[in-house]
Amino acid sequence: MTKAVKKAVIPAAGLGTRFLPASKAVPKEMLPIVDVPTIQLVIEEAVRGGIEQVVLVNGRHKSAIEEHFDHAYELEHTLAERGKTDELVVLSKVAELAQILSVRQKQPLGLGHAVLCAKDAVGEEPVAVLLADDLFDGGENPGIAQLTKAYADCGGAGVVAVMEVEEGQEHKYGIVAGELDERGFIRVTEMVEKPPPGTAPSRMAIIGRYVLPPEIWPALESTERGHGGEIQLTDAMRALVTDGPGLFAIPIEGQRYDAGDKLGFLHANLAFALKRNELRKPLLALMQALIDANLEESQV
Ligand code: UTP
Repeated sequence: MTKAVKKAVIPAAGLGTRFLPASKAVPKEMLPIVDVPTIQLVIEEAVRGGIEQVVLVNGRHKSAIEEHFDHAYELEHTLAERGKTDELVVLSKVAELAQILSVRQKQPLGLGHAVLCAKDAVGEEPVAVLLADDLFDGGENPGIAQLTKAYADCGGAGVVAVMEVEEGQEHKYGIVAGELDERGFIRVTEMVEKPPPGTAPSRMAIIGRYVLPPEIWPALESTERGHGGEIQLTDAMRALVTDGPGLFAIPIEGQRYDAGDKLGFLHANLAFALKRNELRKPLLALMQALIDANLEESQV
């Protein structure tokens, strides 16, 4: 029987160049979806999926993220004095969300390298990896829960979440190909990071949720710099296929937002805001007014 997945790694040490200048002094994982930082949404998903301990991989903005998930006694004291009890409840929930520890990636050498930085904190057990700029709305069925369930059914092989992307978009993703089994899982035989246009082996793209067995550690340790001069997680996962317990790609259900990209980030903000009762109606009115004004402008 495979061990239950109780630990997660969340890398948040990238440069976030697509969000400069906003990400100059603040990590992009702290940028809000309405009023909640993306990294908090992702940790909430992990907790709902049964994760008990989160290892954050921080970079140069280490303190902003650590402080967000810690108690802020001065602020809490002031809020209490002013009778702001709702805000106090919200803040203490964030501070008690999960057992969080953080490690440092001293240089942004790639996602694979960031995950490897968490090796000692995780140890010899399966680990969930969630990318904090990939938001996932699976309703009652959190993305990572779909994966941990699949992992328990895959005999110790790793599992990655995949979604079919539109033709022509494959070059933006890690793409997998393999044999589809009776459960609808794909036993991965081929994997390529950001294939040049027209060369992708399929349209099944890896999205930012993984459950990896302990065999990933030696695979990461022996992975050389690949695409973009970075140590790629995809390259290490390839070693699971060739020399390890294997890898399954799990088509995942739900809505995914690429919050690491400007348009995806705006999309996520609108979609999450529309789910808030107090914002839905006024936001729809604002959007309608913007649409009308822009339609008029384009007709001039
Ligand atoms: P991305 O490639 O989306 O993030 O990495 P980035 O490099 O920060 O963003 P751009 O492309 O420059 O705008 C996916 C996740 O992996 C983390 C990032 O923080 C992000 O959450 N990451 C990436 C690291 O922690 N370390 C790295 O060296 C690279």
